[in-house]
Amino acid sequence: MKRSVIFMLALAVTACFGSCGNDSVGKADDKPFEVSGGAVSQAETTTAETTDGTTEAPTAEETTSEAEDTTDDAVQADGGYVASLDPSGDGMEVRTSPSASGNYTPKPSPDAPAPGDYNYAPPPQQYDIPGLTYIDGTLVVNKTYSLPADFNPGLDATCEAQFYKLQSDAAAAGLDIYLSSGFRSYDLQNEIYNNYVARDGVEKADTYSARPGYSEHQTGLAIDVNQIDDTFIGTPEAIWLEEHCHEYGFILRYPQGKQDITGYKYESWHIRYVGTDLSYAIHDSGLTLEEYFRIDSYYH
Ligand code: DAL
Ligand code: ZN
Repeated sequence: MKRSVIFMLALAVTACFGSCGNDSVGKADDKPFEVSGGAVSQAETTTAETTDGTTEAPTAEETTSEAEDTTDDAVQADGGYVASLDPSGDGMEVRTSPSASGNYTPKPSPDAPAPGDYNYAPPPQQYDIPGLTYIDGTLVVNKTYSLPADFNPGLDATCEAQFYKLQSDAAAAGLDIYLSSGFRSYDLQNEIYNNYVARDGVEKADTYSARPGYSEHQTGLAIDVNQIDDTFIGTPEAIWLEEHCHEYGFILRYPQGKQDITGYKYESWHIRYVGTDLSYAIHDSGLTLEEYFRIDSYYH
């Protein structure tokens, strides 16, 4: 049973500068996540003709089980959690996922490095720009939450520095992990996505490629490593990445078996920078970002 909760109001992004950090994982007290921004837009499939730009190859097995919920906004049985997401009503339309049925309470990780520790990695820079969606201080982009076409931050400096630290430590372990695709503009994603649509059709392309405005790569906080296809799965590099990326502030964004939740098939090569407070909490929880924040990911 699904109902919709729509909060009306202005679009000013009340990005919580300084309030993300450690707070973002301190949810053991059931404090609702803080949502600000306003992005549940419905950009429809673009149809521009394209040329090259295929950086991500689709993979072999194709489970086409994305649009699992055709229903509208869902307030799950976990007790109107969604309603409490936006107590101030700042214009966000917030949806929950059926998977986020709410018996999980996030806890701070005892293993996470504290600010000042050598291994501490801060949350990324925040932008006070309309059209971005921050949940508890974390910029969220998926099939539900989009970005403005003119949002063009480039690769985040902290994300980049942390990646090279990760790369260096992996190299010390005898592994070769390299950056293959980092920041991608709206226009580049448009080209890439439309190439895939031309080749595979919309339904299939949507399982492995984001529509323009919906790619995490446009945040400057996502990195694809190595060969960007299923041949990376199970390699020593992929195994190391999955086991260690949280130590550098990254999460493996589209884990195996979570396609119905993240909206995308397993991508062993795609990591997302969030900072070590959140990366440890999410890693310890075993949840996806969607489950952790109790949001959904589908084109509305
Ligand atoms: N491959 C991911 C989902 C993207 O296109 O951003
Ligand atoms: Zn990627």
